[in-house]
Amino acid sequence: MALQASIISLIFVLFIFFASVTAVQHNLKIFDVRTYGAAGDGQKDNTQAFLLAWKDACGFAGKATVYVPVGIYMLGQMAFVGPCKGRPIVHLQGVLRAPSWFGPSDSWITFRYINKLVVKGGKTGTLDGQGQFAWKNNDCHSNSNCSPLPATLRFEFVTNSRVHDIRSINSKNSHIVIFGCKNVNMTNIRLTAPQDSPNTDGIKIGSSTNIKIVKSVIGTGDDCVAILAGSRDILISKLFCGPGHGISVGSLGGFPNEKNVAGLIVKNCTISNANNGVRIKTWESPHHSIASGFTFEDIFMNNVQNPIIIDQLYCPHPPCNDQYPSHVQIKDVLYKNIWGTSITEVAVSLKCSSAFPCKNIVMKDINLAHQGSGAAKSLCSHVDVLSFGKQSPPPCL
Ligand SMILES: *[C@@H]1O[C@H](CO)[C@@H](O)[C@H](O)[C@H]1NC(C)=O
Ligand SMILES: *[C@@H]1O[C@H](CO)[C@@H](O)[C@H](O)[C@H]1NC(C)=O
Repeated sequence: MALQASIISLIFVLFIFFASVTAVQHNLKIFDVRTYGAAGDGQKDNTQAFLLAWKDACGFAGKATVYVPVGIYMLGQMAFVGPCKGRPIVHLQGVLRAPSWFGPSDSWITFRYINKLVVKGGKTGTLDGQGQFAWKNNDCHSNSNCSPLPATLRFEFVTNSRVHDIRSINSKNSHIVIFGCKNVNMTNIRLTAPQDSPNTDGIKIGSSTNIKIVKSVIGTGDDCVAILAGSRDILISKLFCGPGHGISVGSLGGFPNEKNVAGLIVKNCTISNANNGVRIKTWESPHHSIASGFTFEDIFMNNVQNPIIIDQLYCPHPPCNDQYPSHVQIKDVLYKNIWGTSITEVAVSLKCSSAFPCKNIVMKDINLAHQGSGAAKSLCSHVDVLSFGKQSPPPCL
């Protein structure tokens, strides 16, 4: 009897278990922006409709998809703000188009305080920043009266999330900014802006941990990916980068009390027709921090100006204040299996700080040829390099 009763109760428990699993799977709801009044006609301003769709989706305790069908949706500045009750998904099949101009601000579209967010674009989902109307008069590098233009997408305090199959074109400023985030995977991201468009960085990461950028294509007028202060455990793999300024750590040392950068792997990437390949750059300043634990591995350089570069005298727009040498300590950097062509003779340039010489820099199997007359060279200061395997250009003595 006792056995029979326990079997019956076990069956009952299993029944409840499977019933609840099914219920969770079915707890999925679509919030189509059109039912909130949006129109993909390239005319109507859809900001209010998107906000209403988001409000309902974010308040839904399940998988809540904000769905944007094919069409061209004009969208003003907006923020998708959490925390949400369930797991929000933004599924973009259409094109979101920014107004050609709006006042100085951080970003066009912001995602903030959201856990377990998915943003996906499929084959057609595109963000069109319309930067071509704003770049000319607002290049903050050449014009100190400029007003800062907004990034296309900004993720702030977003955790355990995925962004995939998203395309962004002609951002006014950076395409994607990741700030204060943790555990975010980005795959199949395609970012495009003209080579001569100012400040159109691909992805900028700061104060964030465990960010993965995988299988993506970035070609813009600035860095493909920039890793800024406070970034930890960043992975970039299978990235095709170019044209643009390459993959950069920094610039660091620009502000007091900057957090360290620790842990970056750049692996299986191609960098093509870019100003830099893999770069670490720091300002000459008294602001101390540590940049350590970098691996640059299996990277093909095609026609790159400075394939491997550490620049601790960074001064893109002279004159710079050079009263202090850089106080950023760079250490534990491995360059392994990097090959291809350099447009300049100096294929490896390691200009470290006189106050904080670079430590534990290792080169293994480097094969970079100068495209043009004269053999490729290495140039080094304030650094001891350990080299193994093939070394072309020959290492500094
Ligand atoms: C990110 O990718 C890694 C490796 O593929 C995976 O283990 C992890 O769960 C993913 N994170 C999210 C938030 O999807
Ligand atoms: C990654 O490596 C594979 C195999 O060597 C190569 O075919 C592919 O082009 C690489 N990806 C990039 C972005 O370089």
